[in-house]
Amino acid sequence: MSHWKELLLDHIKAIETYQGVESPDTIAAKTGINIDDIIKLNGNENPYGFSAMVKTYLGNYDNYNLYPDPNQEKLRHTLAEYAGTDYQNIVAGNGADELIDLLIRIFVGIGDEVIIPTPTFGMYSFGTEIVGGRVINVPRDDGYDINVKEIIEAITDRTKIIFLTSPNNPTGNLVSSEDVSELLENDVIVVVDETYYEFCKMTHMGLLLDYPNLVILRTFSKWAGLAGLRIGFGIMDPELVETIMAMKPPYNVNLAAEIAIYASLEDKDRLIARVDEIVSERERVFGILNGLEGIKLYPSMGNFILCEFNGGIGKVIYDALCEKGIYLRYFGKPPLDDSIRFSIGKPKENEIVMREITTILDGR
Ligand SMILES: Cc1ncc(COP(=O)(O)O)c(C=O)c1O
Repeated sequence: MSHWKELLLDHIKAIETYQGVESPDTIAAKTGINIDDIIKLNGNENPYGFSAMVKTYLGNYDNYNLYPDPNQEKLRHTLAEYAGTDYQNIVAGNGADELIDLLIRIFVGIGDEVIIPTPTFGMYSFGTEIVGGRVINVPRDDGYDINVKEIIEAITDRTKIIFLTSPNNPTGNLVSSEDVSELLENDVIVVVDETYYEFCKMTHMGLLLDYPNLVILRTFSKWAGLAGLRIGFGIMDPELVETIMAMKPPYNVNLAAEIAIYASLEDKDRLIARVDEIVSERERVFGILNGLEGIKLYPSMGNFILCEFNGGIGKVIYDALCEKGIYLRYFGKPPLDDSIRFSIGKPKENEIVMREITTILDGR
C-alpha cells in the first residue's frame, strides 16, 4: 500500500491539536528543575491537592480486578444527591472533557455547525473538528461577555450545539440566566459548562425544568483536586441521559475515580472550605494587581485570573517565571495577545507571581 496517511480522513489531516498542560515530571525532565520546586499555575488545578480521605479509600478498596458498573447506579445516585437533582438526570464521564466529546459525537455530523463564543475553552472546537463539524466562532464583547444577538444571528439549520461556559475559561466571567434562556428558545442544544461552579456557586440548573435542550457540565477536577483521576458529570434531560448512557464506552469512569468521589464527598466540607480560601486569595491577588500601570485584569469567578499586558511585557513575565520553575498560561494570539492566565495557588506561590509581575512592570 501507499502510506497509511493516505487513509486519514481529510478533516483529520487538517486538525489543529489541543495542547494540554505538561505534567511536573515532564517539565522536570525537560528543564532539569527539581520537581518539588515546580509551581504549576497553568492548568487551573487545585493547589491544595485532594482530600486526605481519597488515599485511605483507594487503599482499602479490594475489587480493582472487576469492571466498574456500566450503568453507574451508585455513582449517579451519589452525584445526583451532591448536585441536588434526580438520578435520571445524571451521567458521569471521564472528566467533563469526555462529556463534551460524547455530546459532539451524538449531535454533530460532517458539516454540522457548533457555535462557540470566543475566547473560551479549547476542547469545544477541537471536539467539533475531530468529527468534521464546522466551528462557528462568535467573538465576545470587549468585557468578554457573550454576544447573544450575534449568536442568534449565527444559528442556521446546520447548528447543533452552542457551548457556553460559566465562569468562562480563561476570562472568568459568568453568563447570565437571561442570556442562557434566550439561547435555549432556539432549536439547538445549549451546553453550559459549569466546571468552576464550586468557586462561584451560581448555576443554571434551574432552567432544566423548562428546557430539555439544556445540558450542564460539572467536574471534580477543580474543587475536589481530582484532575488526575478524570471525573466529571452532566446534568440533563433524562432521555438525553439514556442516549448518552447507551453511546458511551461501557466502563468510561474507572473505579479509582469513582471511589475518590465517595471519599471527596465524605470530606466535602473541608474541600469547600479550601475552595473558599482560594476564592478569598483570588480577591486578595486581584486587589493587589488591579490598578497597577501596564496590566489589565478581568474580574474572575473561577480559580484563576486573566491579565492583559501589551508590548510583549506579558511574554517577558511568562518567560521570567518559567525560568524559576513557575508555569502560567500565556496566550500569544488575538484577542488574547500578550495575555496571561494564572491559577490561584497557595499564598506563597501567588506572592512570587505578583512580585515578578510588579518588578517587570516597574522596570519597563
Ligand atoms: C471550561 C472547562 N471545561 C472543562 C474542563 C475539563 O474538565 P475535566 O478535567 O473534568 O475534563 C476544563 C479544564 O480546564 C475547563 O476549563
